[in-house]
Amino acid sequence: MKFLVHTYGCQMNVRDSEAVEALMLAAGYEKAADESEVDIVIVNSCTVRDMAERKAVGKCGNLIAAKEGRGKTVAPHVKVVGLMGCAVKRMGADVFKSLPKLDFAVGPRRFGVIPRLVERCLAGETRILELPDDNEVPTGMDAHVGGTSFQSYVTVLLGCDNRCSYCIVPDVRGHEYSRPAREVVAEVRALAARGVKEVCLLGQSVLRYGVRNAAWGPDDPPSPGGYTEAFPRLLEALNAIDGLARIRFTSAHPKGCTDELVCAYADFPKVCRHLHLPVQSGSDRVLKEMGRHYTRAEYLAAVAKLRAFDPEFAVTTDVIVGYPGETEGDFEATRSLMEEAGFDNAFVFKYSPRPGTRSAALPDDVPTEEKERRDQVLLADQQVRGQARNDRLVGTVREVLVEGPSLRNAARWSGRDSGNRIVVFEPSRPVRIGDLVQVRIREAHPQILIGELA
Ligand code: 5AD
Ligand code: SF4
Repeated sequence: MKFLVHTYGCQMNVRDSEAVEALMLAAGYEKAADESEVDIVIVNSCTVRDMAERKAVGKCGNLIAAKEGRGKTVAPHVKVVGLMGCAVKRMGADVFKSLPKLDFAVGPRRFGVIPRLVERCLAGETRILELPDDNEVPTGMDAHVGGTSFQSYVTVLLGCDNRCSYCIVPDVRGHEYSRPAREVVAEVRALAARGVKEVCLLGQSVLRYGVRNAAWGPDDPPSPGGYTEAFPRLLEALNAIDGLARIRFTSAHPKGCTDELVCAYADFPKVCRHLHLPVQSGSDRVLKEMGRHYTRAEYLAAVAKLRAFDPEFAVTTDVIVGYPGETEGDFEATRSLMEEAGFDNAFVFKYSPRPGTRSAALPDDVPTEEKERRDQVLLADQQVRGQARNDRLVGTVREVLVEGPSLRNAARWSGRDSGNRIVVFEPSRPVRIGDLVQVRIREAHPQILIGELA
């Protein structure tokens, strides 16, 4: 029996999907090359914005149509269609109103049961619903697909308790839970032994690692460098793992940008000099409404702290345009904040009201065209800023982890520097995926650097 997992949404979902693949392989299923030979399809859904949810549900609908011999999807052998992830938890039993012929639906933190559910569905059951508890600890969280991958995600913090007004994540991913540090260290050690060069530690607000529940136990060895905060101490332990070359993590809240974190960047060479630090807005009034718990000045101070330590430190962000009541003045404040912060990259999202969140009770009063205009203005600004930030790197030599042939031009290879910048180069001597190489930058673009092997 052959299966496929289709993934929508954030890195957290990418990681959960990988765990499901590993569990399915361990249960004896094979991975299908494409939909033409697939028997079992699992769709991992996102619900952070309305559009994201619709894509996953729409995909399921198409596959169910294929199962019944209707529709256009070329999946002639599909027997079981399941939905997992955030949208399931949001919809609850209503998922079967949208998708009456769905075989199973599993919320986040419960994916460990999927191989069992597939078995039950193959035996004829249908419409099975599994919703996790808000404090549930998943089984199978350390399952990884073996093989040759040189990069891996590792979940360290589940859920989120920040309760930003617009965000549905806490409702669907439950309460914060930090995995025990010894479990994380063992997982990364096993990955490194298998040839993984780069890990990316995941959590909705990853710098809150060890805050709600202790991550380090009394039996764990003390921090050699005298670190007292749980997350920097985790970086210290991971930095010591042989074979591992790079450590990344995402996503962060400025409150977590402590002096110990900056020390960790300085002390541990494997920790990459990039932080994804969503700002959401540059207007103090909007930040307050959103419940972000920082001011514009505090946010900028966090960025300044990172850049004071290393001027090339890459800071990227998320911004929401068209939050309820966002005036032209609020928007201009976001624009100027982005300029002052000098972001290396930015993702802009149009506000989308999510059922049950605090801001969903407010009128969604910024017209769609105006959201679109604000989106375009910020993206255009970022192109200019990205070019200027990258221009400063021309002539420098960047350490690049090789990812493979470039998507646009297979004669060139591509990888990323410590700041997560895409670097493209001619492979003037043989290079392999997963190698660390030095590249001298010759040319800069807003989103990419081009150079030659040094
Ligand atoms: N509408 C638009 N964007 C949102 N995000 C989260 N919730 C919403 C929403 N309701 C964005 C935030 C977050 C990113 C992952 O998605 O910018 O950082
Ligand atoms: Fe949403 Fe805030 Fe949690 Fe990020 S930190 S996922 S924006 S609630």
